Amino acid sequence: MSLPARVAIVTGGARGIGAATARRLAADGRAVAVLDLAEADAQKTADAITADGGTAIGVGADVSDADQVAAAVDLVAERLGPPTILVNNAGVIRDNLLFRMTESDWDTVMGVHLRGAFLMSRAAQTHMTAEGWGRIVSLSSSSAQGNRGQANYSAAKAGLQGFTKTLAIELGKFGVTANAVAPGFIETDMTRATAERVGVDFEDFKKAAAESIPVRRPGRPEDVAATISFLTGEESGFVSGQVIYVAGGPLD
Ligand SMILES: NC(=O)c1ccc[n+]([C@@H]2O[C@H](COP(=O)([O-])OP(=O)(O)OC[C@H]3O[C@@H](n4cnc5c(N)ncnc54)[C@H](O)[C@@H]3O)[C@@H](O)[C@H]2O)c1
Repeated sequence: MSLPARVAIVTGGARGIGAATARRLAADGRAVAVLDLAEADAQKTADAITADGGTAIGVGADVSDADQVAAAVDLVAERLGPPTILVNNAGVIRDNLLFRMTESDWDTVMGVHLRGAFLMSRAAQTHMTAEGWGRIVSLSSSSAQGNRGQANYSAAKAGLQGFTKTLAIELGKFGVTANAVAPGFIETDMTRATAERVGVDFEDFKKAAAESIPVRRPGRPEDVAATISFLTGEESGFVSGQVIYVAGGPLD
């Protein structure tokens, strides 16, 4: 069933979980801005959605840059209408054990995940509060609970949970909800890069991951997109400040 034609921005929407989410929200009937650092790839994802009968545009922007974020949100409002759905999905990894982690590894990860979600949410909430309706979903991770080699990433993903709860408290009275989705192991270029870094064939890496997942399979981008579809939907207005693990088993 098609939902109202609201406007959604999906950051990091060029590929992986972001692209699956952009496709899913477009199938839900939303007009989708696929925002990514990789502008050409964002445009390709948008073109594929349009070819399938959806409404989408590609937008190039770095979510950690305040001026680019402001310009991108303005552009979306101008071309599609006020963005009242925001999915903070853009992400990078710079894994290293603490003693080898550089300041640049730390700052890059904090910049994209935390500063990026802050800048995007601050820009988009102007439209949401004006409309009296909004949905913000930020991508946390099971790594928020700690993961070897990811001091930067786990700190950022845990930080996004606190960020989300605070947005829920501040924005609730404007009809805006904020939730976090925390995936476990999802098959994307990001996990492929991790397999490469540790020198394990990706198929073996997935098999090993599946053995420790109760549902015995790796997650797919579509698993995460389906959860985001619910949290950005019309019927989830009383669910706010939550962290939903999409990990094939219990985490808290
Ligand atoms: N894959 C997993 O197993 C997994 C698990 C938990 C959480 N996550 C999170 O889900 C999100 C998506 O992960 P994925 O696996 O699809 O990653 P991915 O690497 O496949 O895609 C990330 C996208 O973000 C974009 N991006 C990176 N920096 C950006 C910036 N500064 N501005 C705009 N766009 C930028 C990239 O260009 C890319 O298109 C990330 O936040 C990630 O941390 C992934």
